[in-house]
Amino acid sequence: MTQARIWPVGEEMAAVLSRLHITCFDPLPETPWSKTAMRTILRMPGTRGYVIGEAREAPRGLLIGRETAEDAEILTVCVAPDVRRHGLARDLFAAFLADIAPDARLVLEVAVDNDGAIRLYESLGFQEIGRRPAYYGGGGTRVDALVLARTPEPSNT
Ligand SMILES: CC(C)(COP(=O)(O)OP(=O)(O)OC[C@H]1O[C@@H](n2cnc3c(N)ncnc32)[C@H](O)[C@@H]1OP(=O)(O)O)[C@@H](O)C(=O)NCCC(=O)NCCS
Repeated sequence: MTQARIWPVGEEMAAVLSRLHITCFDPLPETPWSKTAMRTILRMPGTRGYVIGEAREAPRGLLIGRETAEDAEILTVCVAPDVRRHGLARDLFAAFLADIAPDARLVLEVAVDNDGAIRLYESLGFQEIGRRPAYYGGGGTRVDALVLARTPEPSNT
């Protein structure tokens, strides 16, 4: 990928985002989001969506987060398999963090066996705060979720 850019997106991109989500989550336990699910989530108050790639209409990664009065959460993040380990997820997190309150605690869930994502979150300063048993999956195999949180460093100014 030569020049990746980030764009904010809304429900108008629901179909494109759903297709990318399905591509990214293919063998993993998390259920990919349909176009309808994507649109519903992007309509929720406080939700922010971002895509990254060379063209907004053909994104290679996406992040959807939500900011509430209490804290912020990552609802989903994914990058296409052929462009992983190029910093796209890290850049998507930076875009979301730049748009939310600087003192907001950021929480997310991740499957306990999703080693790559866990490494990403650790590299961004997330720490485990809980566990949800049998949270992901279907068809007989269920996988626990770790609940991770990232609390900003207190400002010295
Ligand atoms: C997890 C995921 C979003 C990471 O996207 P990415 O663009 O490849 O991540 P980045 O390139 O920004 O990685 C930043 C850092 O995170 C860590 N990291 C990311 N993926 C990793 C992996 N597979 N193994 C080990 N460390 C990894 C590394 O420290 C990496 O820095 P480095 O490449 O300089 O060593 C991507 O693998 C993905 O879409 N996976 C499938 C969907 C998914 O699991 N989403 C999260 C659900 S909770």
